[in-house]
Amino acid sequence: MHIPSTSAVACLSLLPLVSAFYPYVPVYPIIHSRKDLYEPVRHAEDALNPRDDSISLGISRTLTRRTNKYNIINSQPPTQSNSVAVDQDGTDFSYMVTITFGTSSEEYHMLLDSAASNTWIMGGDCTLDVCNTHNTFGNGDSTSLTISDKTFSIVYGTGQVSGNLATDTAHIAGFSVPFTFGLASNVSSDFLSYPMDGILGLGRGDSTSNTIEAPSILDVLISESLIKTKLFGVHLSRTSSGVNDGELDFGTPNPQLYNGDLTYIPTIANTNGFWEIAVDDAGVDGKALGVKGRSAIIDTGTSFILMPSDDAVALHKLISGSTQSGETFTVPCSATEIVQLSFGGVNFNISTADYVGRRLGGGACASNIIGRQTFGTTQWLVGDVYLKNVYTVFDFDGSRVGFGVKGEEKAAASSSATVSGSSPVPSKTSPLAGTTAPTALSQQSPGASASPTHNMAVKWDEGSGAMLALMAFIVLAVVL
Ligand SMILES: *[C@@H]1O[C@H](CO)[C@@H](O)[C@H](O)[C@H]1NC(C)=O
Ligand SMILES: *[C@@H]1O[C@H](CO)[C@@H](O)[C@H](O)[C@H]1NC(C)=O
Repeated sequence: MHIPSTSAVACLSLLPLVSAFYPYVPVYPIIHSRKDLYEPVRHAEDALNPRDDSISLGISRTLTRRTNKYNIINSQPPTQSNSVAVDQDGTDFSYMVTITFGTSSEEYHMLLDSAASNTWIMGGDCTLDVCNTHNTFGNGDSTSLTISDKTFSIVYGTGQVSGNLATDTAHIAGFSVPFTFGLASNVSSDFLSYPMDGILGLGRGDSTSNTIEAPSILDVLISESLIKTKLFGVHLSRTSSGVNDGELDFGTPNPQLYNGDLTYIPTIANTNGFWEIAVDDAGVDGKALGVKGRSAIIDTGTSFILMPSDDAVALHKLISGSTQSGETFTVPCSATEIVQLSFGGVNFNISTADYVGRRLGGGACASNIIGRQTFGTTQWLVGDVYLKNVYTVFDFDGSRVGFGVKGEEKAAASSSATVSGSSPVPSKTSPLAGTTAPTALSQQSPGASASPTHNMAVKWDEGSGAMLALMAFIVLAVVL
């Protein structure tokens, strides 16, 4: 992986609600096994290379981009129509889809950002280093491109992007639609740390609350009558699984990518365009934290799970052998505990492959659950560390988020559903039925066993949990 050297250190103050490209580089101690020598990891470059050498990156490693200098692992073609493959960088750090514009066949990598509705791409007139390492789009690339005089500016936590609005035909997921987006002529160097050429806004905010005042891709697909339901579904691949099958589905979920039914959770009204839902509780191996009144902002554009310190401390206390270091935590690389987030009455598991991060030495690994308040005191920012474990549906019309257990657990779930005494696995044609077989986290005395209604054979990927991305960010609309 070629990542330009950068020193994007985590020097962020808490962000006001209106802003935020949220590049987060946690500083973990490197623990050497002989002596306890602590050496902070400060460079994004280090954070981006949490690779365990034993992990094979799987099929198609594609490095054919015109100017994009980053390693991007293409996923296999989607298994249903109106869908596009979700690619990633090979470390589960950034998830992107390709888009082409107008008469150009050049592919641009757009980060999936469910926390904002702005879509922009680096422009051809940007001559900064950050643009030279990415694919840019501008005059000369497509004869149908029109660039307007209207400007945009998005101010992020540690940087900014500005330029002009532009219109061209966007080709994505088999659709070709007229689309207005930002063409950035000035991009802050923060983006050197990221492989994407631009950002695809998938937030709930409508166009009037955007910095980029144009209909989102979902708005366009609806207004052009190309999809019937304003929703999208996302499956994010886990590199350590060796299968590059990430997928973004427009208009209808792909039932091949989850088990049985979706559990839907209503969204909480907010003015930020967040996909924010109530968290019932969190826990470890069926033992509940006992937290109340928390909510989760579901963000495909954030690598980590970030929660205020007290919650993160309480959660890690349930993982034996964990240690705290400021806002970061270590967990034993050999940890086998399953971390769970409970939504809509169902415990959703987070694999050790996802929360156990890079090796720090001495058998300690970074925890990819961070003790940091990103927004309110009760709001958790829940990103890819969790989302890789589920198929997620973002339903605008229904004002709800749906989670489905991933397919690899499908067979075991079906065969054990009746054993547990829960209702039979309901039909896929009845999506709301997914809430009928809850496995609530119960508050238990230590040692008491969980009482799962399913007995799914979860394949834990012990020993290969060092693949995790070590940065997180969130992109929010800024009202100018
Ligand atoms: C880009 O934006 C920054 C921050 O606003 C500004 O200081 C700089 O002059 C701009 N550069 C260009 C080339 O416009
Ligand atoms: C979570 O993992 C536990 C233990 O393996 C299992 O019993 C349970 O069914 C899983 N839950 C889901 C929703 O997959």
